[in-house]
Amino acid sequence: MIWQQRVTTALQQRRQQHLWRQCAQLDSAQGALVERDGKRVINFCANDYLGLASFGGAALARAAQQWQLGSGASHLVCGHSRAHAELEHALAMHTGYPRAVLFSTGYMANLGVISALAQRGDHIWQDKLNHASLLDGAQLSRGRLHRYRHDDCEHLQQLLADHNDAGAHLIVSDSIFSMDGDCADVPRLANIAQQHDALLMIDDAHGFGTLGVHGEGAKIAFNLSSSELPVYVGTLGKALGGFGAFVACDDAMADYLVQFARSYIYTTALPPALADAMLSQLARLQQGDLQTQLNANIALFQRLAAGAELPLMPSQSAIQPLTVGDSERALWLSQQLLQQGFWVSAIRPPTVPAGSARLRITLSAAHQPEQISALVESLCTLLEAQP
Ligand SMILES: Cc1ncc(COP(=O)(O)O)c(C=O)c1O
Repeated sequence: MIWQQRVTTALQQRRQQHLWRQCAQLDSAQGALVERDGKRVINFCANDYLGLASFGGAALARAAQQWQLGSGASHLVCGHSRAHAELEHALAMHTGYPRAVLFSTGYMANLGVISALAQRGDHIWQDKLNHASLLDGAQLSRGRLHRYRHDDCEHLQQLLADHNDAGAHLIVSDSIFSMDGDCADVPRLANIAQQHDALLMIDDAHGFGTLGVHGEGAKIAFNLSSSELPVYVGTLGKALGGFGAFVACDDAMADYLVQFARSYIYTTALPPALADAMLSQLARLQQGDLQTQLNANIALFQRLAAGAELPLMPSQSAIQPLTVGDSERALWLSQQLLQQGFWVSAIRPPTVPAGSARLRITLSAAHQPEQISALVESLCTLLEAQP
C-alpha cells in the first residue's frame, strides 16, 4: 500500500507541476531532419553535434560481418576483443594520453571512476551544475561530496582551504555543461588542483569531438599536460554519434580502473562490432571539416539570435539554451515549435534548478543555414505571443 501511494502521489505531482516527461518516438535514423511520431521535423535537440549518428551504418554492417553481435562477457572474462583494444589505443592517441579504458556508457564511466577513487575520509569537490552521473558517482563512493557554486573557482579555493585535513581531494567538473552550454575554466581548475595536491577529473562528454581543431577535446584544446588533467572522461554517444565512453589517463590510473572500477568489471563489454565501427567514426571526426561546419552554424545562430534579441544564455558551444523560467511556458513554446516543424526540448526541473526552465537548442554540423534562420524566425514570433 505504501508503495502504491508513493508512486501515485509522485506521478500526480509531476503532472500538476508541468514536469511530466515522456519519450517521443522516432521513425527514422537520427539526423538534422527526422520523422517523429509520424511527422518530419528539424531536430534541434540531439547531442549529435557533428551529424555522425547517421554516418557509420555501413561501417557497422561491415564490422558485424566480422564480429557478429555480442561481446559475450565482461572485458576481464572473455569480452575484450582486438576491436576494443584498437579503439582504446586510438582514443588515447587522439585525446593526448598514454592509455584509455572503454566503458559501456558515460554514466557508468563516471560512477566507476569516482567510486573506485574516493575512499572514506576523502573529499570530492564538484561544480553545482555537474552532470547527474558525476553526483551519483560521489554518492556511491565513500568520499564526502562538496558542491561549489557554478563556475566559481574562488568558492572552490575557499572551501578547499577550509578542509585541509588528511583526506585526499578529487576535483570533478563537466567541461561544457550539458544544460547550460558554458564551459568550465579547465586551466584554472588544473591550477587549483595542483596547488592543493588534488586530482582533477573532467567529464568532456560535450567537448570531446567539438573542442580542439580536430575534436581532440578539453586537454588538447586547453593545452594541458596529462599530469595537469590526469582523469579525462569522453563519451562516444554525442559528437562521435555512436554509443559508449572511455576514460583517458596514464598507465597506472588505467590499470587501477581495470582492477577497481566496478562498472567496468561487472558488466558486459560493448559489442565488438560497435567498437570497430567507432574507429571509423573517429577517423571521420579527425578530418576536422565537421568541427569547422559546426562552428559556422553556431556563429550563424548566435548572430541571428542577437539581431532578434533572443534571450540566449551565455554559451559558445553547440548547446545554446534560451532562458524561459517558467516550466509551463517552456513546455508551451516547445509544443508550438513542434507544430511548426522544429524539435526543441523544454528542459525543466529537476534537470535544471527551479525557476530556470529553458529551451535547450543544440546545433549540429548537419544543419543547413536556412533551417537555422527558420528556427530563429519562429522563436521571435512565439516569444512575442503569450501562451
Ligand atoms: C556531461 C555528461 N556526462 C555524462 C553523460 C552520460 O553519458 P552517456 O549518455 O554515454 O551515458 C552525459 C549525457 O548523457 C552528459 O551530458
